[in-house]
Amino acid sequence: MAQESLAERSTWTGKWAFILAAAASAVGLGNLWRFPYLAAKYGGGAFLLTYIVLVFTFGISLMVLEVAIGRKTGQSAVTAFKSLKSRYAFIGIIVSIIPFIIAPYYCIIGGWVLKYFVAYCSMAPSALADEGQFFISFITGSSESFIYMALFMLACFVIVALGVEGGIEKANLVMMPLLILFAVGLAIYTMTLPGASAGVAYYLLPDFSKFSAEMVLGAMGQMFYSMSLAMGIIITYGSYMRKTDAIVSSSVRIAGFDLLVAFLAGLMMVPASFMALGSAEAVSGSAGPSLMFIIMPNLIDSMGTVGKLIGIVFFVLVLFAALTSAISLVETCGSILIDAFGLTRRYALVAVYLFIFLCGVFVDLGFSKLSFIEPLGAGSSLLDLFDFVSNVVLMPIAAILTCVFVGWVITPQTIIDEVKSSGKFPFTTAWTFLIKYVAPVLIAIILVGYVGAQFGFIKI
Ligand code: PHE
Repeated sequence: MAQESLAERSTWTGKWAFILAAAASAVGLGNLWRFPYLAAKYGGGAFLLTYIVLVFTFGISLMVLEVAIGRKTGQSAVTAFKSLKSRYAFIGIIVSIIPFIIAPYYCIIGGWVLKYFVAYCSMAPSALADEGQFFISFITGSSESFIYMALFMLACFVIVALGVEGGIEKANLVMMPLLILFAVGLAIYTMTLPGASAGVAYYLLPDFSKFSAEMVLGAMGQMFYSMSLAMGIIITYGSYMRKTDAIVSSSVRIAGFDLLVAFLAGLMMVPASFMALGSAEAVSGSAGPSLMFIIMPNLIDSMGTVGKLIGIVFFVLVLFAALTSAISLVETCGSILIDAFGLTRRYALVAVYLFIFLCGVFVDLGFSKLSFIEPLGAGSSLLDLFDFVSNVVLMPIAAILTCVFVGWVITPQTIIDEVKSSGKFPFTTAWTFLIKYVAPVLIAIILVGYVGAQFGFIKI
């Protein structure tokens, strides 16, 4: 059955095309914005070290698992679980809801990034550095934020509409090398700014007194999000993989790519925000969008004449990262509709576009006409709600179910056989133990911890 659907299914042109595509999905706003903020909050080097250990244990293990499910079944998440064991079709449905929740708000933030890129091209950096006025009036204003969201979505859909090979692969081939180049350039530049050394030292030298359970939970949550795990993306991308390409070595490279960009982002953003705010506490106090859309513009403005160039390069970098991640979301949503309802690719994409646009408008209205809706307490927005439901609630549930399904229902051997059919799979005993016991328990702790913290039962 899997073979039949594979016949008409797109495939990557090679191993590197797959690696680049999965890395392009993984490298996103999470790396450039969330990772540096968490690193600043949780003790710099100690967080960095914890994160690296988690990526090379849990991250790669779960990535191997998802790629193998996709490749074995040749299906996107929605039907992959069903084709492995029909009684467990519901897991596929839960996993498949997640990209549909993330896509609208990811495109809204993509629109903000596009706006900032255009603004740095057309205005003086000082116009954007006004303690948040520029940002607030843009997101709460009437039509502009919708237009930028629509433009961002358009760019993304044109690329996806050109197909896996003709669109996504080609776009990644252009955007990803530039992204790395800009990230390296900006990291070097910020490190040489006067006053940067304290931030660099904080980021690179681990202070083990900062080690805490909360930090590990934060690092683990970030790892899932950053590696695009537990949201159907890697399963879908794995389903386009050739039967001959090695799964473990590809997963290691994808993880390495993602880690490299997060590391570079930290190297530029942690010292930068230190310089702008003076201390780690201040940085962690200004969580969320303000780091990227308010604090960075202030700092860019203080750089003098090079500020404009830095602003443009920085937001092109963020834009590429956001665009390549959004592409993977749209492709995943499209392929879910194709597999679930037998739609053609064209109709599936039209349906996805309409859905994301309408939901996006609704979520975006949460900053203006619907701002009276504060779903997670005073000051929260509809965007926060979408983020919470997908990242804090559904993703851990999806990850636990996936691990239990593989560990206890289809058995790890099924996945091990798939992986070994095209390459090496070292440490299978440790991997099996991790999937059966460690991962489900730890992820359950994250779920309870975060949901409990949100509703005030637990303090983290
Ligand atoms: N992994 C991406 C990041 O780090 C986020 C992402 C989420 C990408 C959902 C695609 C889908 O930003």
